[in-house]
Amino acid sequence: MVDSIEKIVSLCKRRGFIYPGSEIYGGLANSWDYGPLGVELKNNIKNLWWRKFVHNRDDIVGLDAALIMNPKVWEASGHLKEFADYLVECQKCHAHFKSEVGACEECGGKEFTAPKKFNMMLKTFLGPSEDSANAVYFRPETAQAMFADFKNVLDTTRKTLPFGIAQIGKAFRNEITPGNFIFRTREFEQMEIEYFIRESDWEKYFEHWRKEMLEWMENIGLDLKHIHELEVPTKERAHYSKRTIDFEYDYPFGRKELYGLAYRADFDLKNHFPNDPPYRDAESGESFYPHIIEPSLGVDRSVLAVLCSAYDDSDKDRLVLRLKPQLAPYKAAVFPLVANKPELVSKAREVYLQLKTNPYALNPVFDDRGNVGKRYYSQDEIGTPYCITIDYQTLEDDTVTVRDRDTTKQDRIKISELVNNIKNRIENYNHD
Ligand code: GAP
Repeated sequence: MVDSIEKIVSLCKRRGFIYPGSEIYGGLANSWDYGPLGVELKNNIKNLWWRKFVHNRDDIVGLDAALIMNPKVWEASGHLKEFADYLVECQKCHAHFKSEVGACEECGGKEFTAPKKFNMMLKTFLGPSEDSANAVYFRPETAQAMFADFKNVLDTTRKTLPFGIAQIGKAFRNEITPGNFIFRTREFEQMEIEYFIRESDWEKYFEHWRKEMLEWMENIGLDLKHIHELEVPTKERAHYSKRTIDFEYDYPFGRKELYGLAYRADFDLKNHFPNDPPYRDAESGESFYPHIIEPSLGVDRSVLAVLCSAYDDSDKDRLVLRLKPQLAPYKAAVFPLVANKPELVSKAREVYLQLKTNPYALNPVFDDRGNVGKRYYSQDEIGTPYCITIDYQTLEDDTVTVRDRDTTKQDRIKISELVNNIKNRIENYNHD
């Protein structure tokens, strides 16, 4: 586990996981771009989530809605009125902070203006004129489309309670104090499920989702001893929530929120369908408002927690990113022992292509620079779990060495068995 966020920021920049956004123009406060390795890691997390919660279950369907919605959505959801923070301005240097700040983080000043309510939704205009009739908002959570589309989903899938709608996508918040790398940004991604239930079942399903979320955190390689559940007190809960648990993680900058689980009751459906309960019980014919349990997960915070927990510099000779193989950008690296022997290089390219064109997404990388030791070092740093070397023996008996990132142990494997061998290692990783 990493002991400082600077180490993560530096590895991410150096190896192409995450770069500062708009860097050539001096950056843009707290915006970050996912590079070639970062986008693979992030996609692997999103795909794993989709597989676990949508494909592997019968009771959840997906949605990918527009991220700018009719502003009436935000009126009904309460966001126009309630999605606000209190802002103060330092009297000395005019920097802005959330009202709970003790001393100015810029100049140390202790005098602030009176707290002013500040809506955190990001506003823009649709169409050629910037008058208020054209004002719209970037969604501050993916959730609302799953309520607004509730009837459409119901009509087209014929789902019955309990069932859920899942969505992955961007959300935007005009955060007053973004920071800590990708922990708090103004543009981020969420993976959310709105799970619709009967009111009488809410405690049962709240507990179900609490356990599912913990299992998910283990699936992505987080150690549960660094996860802490916080029962959010009534006063601090979002305006729609009757119960919230925050799952906090021990980031190097302190214990802070990773995910949230909320019981939204019937708040949202009642506001969006005020005169028309949208669910009809098939047996009784009675129409009513389903209640909602909402597991809400930040994609970027998942990436950050995964990187922090995988980072291992305890061995003085190498830095290892101990990512779960399923999450690693490359599952395998392929090396010819030396780069100046054409027979070795062409055999290595053959093996590489065999892995690359295999439908099981191994996404291999080819590397013939420097010596094998340096290549291992380079792959360990980015979490590649298996390194395959083509050597002189390969030319004689069609075997290669497979070196395991975590144990550094090497095995000789027949090329004809290589794909299955790697696949089995990935699938059985937990039992290593
Ligand atoms: N629909 C419920 C909802 O949006 P939230 O607690 O405001 O609840 C859910 O956000 C999750 O989204 C958080 O637990 C966090 O993982 C992520 N998140 C929220 N604001 C964020 C930000 N400014 N930057 C990065 N991630 C954020």
